[in-house]
Amino acid sequence: MPSIGCRLKQGLTMETSKGYNMRFEPLGQKMFTRRNWLLRCSILINVAVLLYIGSHVMIGGGNNFTSGGGFLLQEQQQQQPAASALQASSLLPQQQQPTPKNSEASFAEEKLVVAGSGNANSEPAAAAAPPSATIGDSGGGNLPEAGQVVGNIGVVGSSSSATELNNTQSDGYIVTGDEKELDERVRSLLNCYERDYDQQTLQRGDFWVLQNYVRAEHGELKCHESITYTTHADYTFLDNLVPLLERWNAPISIAMHAPGTDFQPTLDSIKYLRDCVPGNQLVRSFATFHIYFGTKHIPKSVPKAQDALKTGYNCSLPAPYFNVSSGHLYKAQKKLLYPVNVGRNIARDSALTHFILASDIELYPNPGLVKKFLEMIARNEQYLRRKAPRVFPLSIFEVDENSPVPHDKTELQEFLRNGKAIPFHKRVCASCHGVPKSKEWMAANETDELSVFHIGKRTGYYVHWEPIYIGTHADPHYDERLSWEGKSDKMTQGYSLCVLDYEFHILDNAFLVHKPGIKVLKKDNRRAMLAGKTNQLIRKIIYPELKIMYGMRKGCAI
Ligand SMILES: *[C@@H]1O[C@H](CO)[C@@H](O)[C@H](O)[C@H]1NC(C)=O
Ligand SMILES: *[C@@H]1O[C@H](CO)[C@@H](O)[C@H](O)[C@H]1NC(C)=O
Ligand SMILES: *[C@@H]1O[C@H](CO)[C@@H](O)[C@H](O)[C@H]1NC(C)=O
Ligand SMILES: *[C@@H]1O[C@H](CO)[C@@H](O)[C@H](O)[C@H]1NC(C)=O
Repeated sequence: MPSIGCRLKQGLTMETSKGYNMRFEPLGQKMFTRRNWLLRCSILINVAVLLYIGSHVMIGGGNNFTSGGGFLLQEQQQQQPAASALQASSLLPQQQQPTPKNSEASFAEEKLVVAGSGNANSEPAAAAAPPSATIGDSGGGNLPEAGQVVGNIGVVGSSSSATELNNTQSDGYIVTGDEKELDERVRSLLNCYERDYDQQTLQRGDFWVLQNYVRAEHGELKCHESITYTTHADYTFLDNLVPLLERWNAPISIAMHAPGTDFQPTLDSIKYLRDCVPGNQLVRSFATFHIYFGTKHIPKSVPKAQDALKTGYNCSLPAPYFNVSSGHLYKAQKKLLYPVNVGRNIARDSALTHFILASDIELYPNPGLVKKFLEMIARNEQYLRRKAPRVFPLSIFEVDENSPVPHDKTELQEFLRNGKAIPFHKRVCASCHGVPKSKEWMAANETDELSVFHIGKRTGYYVHWEPIYIGTHADPHYDERLSWEGKSDKMTQGYSLCVLDYEFHILDNAFLVHKPGIKVLKKDNRRAMLAGKTNQLIRKIIYPELKIMYGMRKGCAI
């Protein structure tokens, strides 16, 4: 112990050790007892360890990198000696090893990763997650038992490298193409429960909701079998649906805001998409539509769900959403606000699958994502067995109006190089969508598998991050008092995730691209005024509520 401490001490800068001495000199302890020396050394080690780890990415154990395939930037191999020295310190959780890289400045968000996982027992949020939780659903109802999860390391620190190795070797990989084995493995790992697919008329606050009003025809869908893209729209956005489905090729749950006279064109648009367009089979197979409207803005007539599609749409007529400006909407005429978070929550709550990608309908994912994601879940690598709750954010990009949407990361990188693509909202609100390690992400080459590239936190520069991610039903809802016009509509959810100590497992080969056309900042006086009001609402009402409901955590902000 002392020798390690001394070695580490020498490694520290003069400044640090001076600072340390100055703090302790006033205690006036001339007697340099062995005990004191040990104490000092151990404090020094702790500080050194924290600084050291703080400047590095922290995921996974060293043993699993064989199957990890480089999810951890590029720097994993070098540092065996230093890592073993650090393991001697009792501060370090055993299954974690830092991956040193001296050139990086230390990011606050990475320090917190360490602080959070090292002191898991004293964290209120961590206490809420049972130790046996392995994947995703850590706040949810149906948690897997420790024994049911293959390769579960259980309580922090109980793993040993021998069992780790064995786990990876004996059941690490799904043979590509072996759908049945993949299916079986994901099913047993998730242990999720099936959800209702009934058509229901519900009330939700001031809104009527027609849940599962028009259902996808995918037949029986088990909760572990896919991921549901959940989103919200009015009918003028439905031109996005087919391009989105061509890439997603999996279930979509859409909540349509259709007050007053918007109801009929909304229903007509759904019919049009199911009957009249190329790609309509995708719509029929995968798209489930919910309709909702304010209680003060009920349409003149609302067919029962079983009658909704009885009369077909005349396919010789143009699409109901073709060339309709948003000024034509009932919503605009009545000066209603768009209740974006009501829609988001309806779509999410109706999703049949365990995993959900809550997104905006103009954001198109790269093709093949669902299968690769489930394969990643099936591999159940070390980082997926971490105890903290997690979501899987996707990097987001915009492309030129005339550009095609890139299909894979390699193509995306080419577009980024020649300026056809840029990071999302770079010209509107860079820090709202800036993803930790985005430069490194963009530089890293595409790999065959999907993995976690980096584990970040919503702190430091990313404290206002509004990530879009694959999560589960267990994640906090979106605050339904916030409107699209008032902006900041995902901020409070982001804050809740931060307070609940969520980890953001950024995926390496997954991304979203906005419908072509790069956004620029436009002056909009009404929105500016509403945004001001929203900020007040958040500051005076919602934030104090969240502090009571979820507690506080250093480094988190709205
Ligand atoms: C590895 O696991 C297998 C069963 O999956 C077991 O028979 C074997 O003894 C284990 N090996 C070690 C080194 O733990
Ligand atoms: C469909 O619309 C076209 C164009 O308006 C019209 O000529 C045709 O008669 C309509 N068909 C039916 C069955 O209403
Ligand atoms: C779209 O609508 C505008 C005005 O409503 C009209 O001037 C324009 O010709 C329409 N465009 C097409 C392609 O129909
Ligand atoms: C990334 O891919 C490019 C083109 O295939 C190649 O030239 C480059 O060496 C690769 N970089 C790394 C770090 O593997």
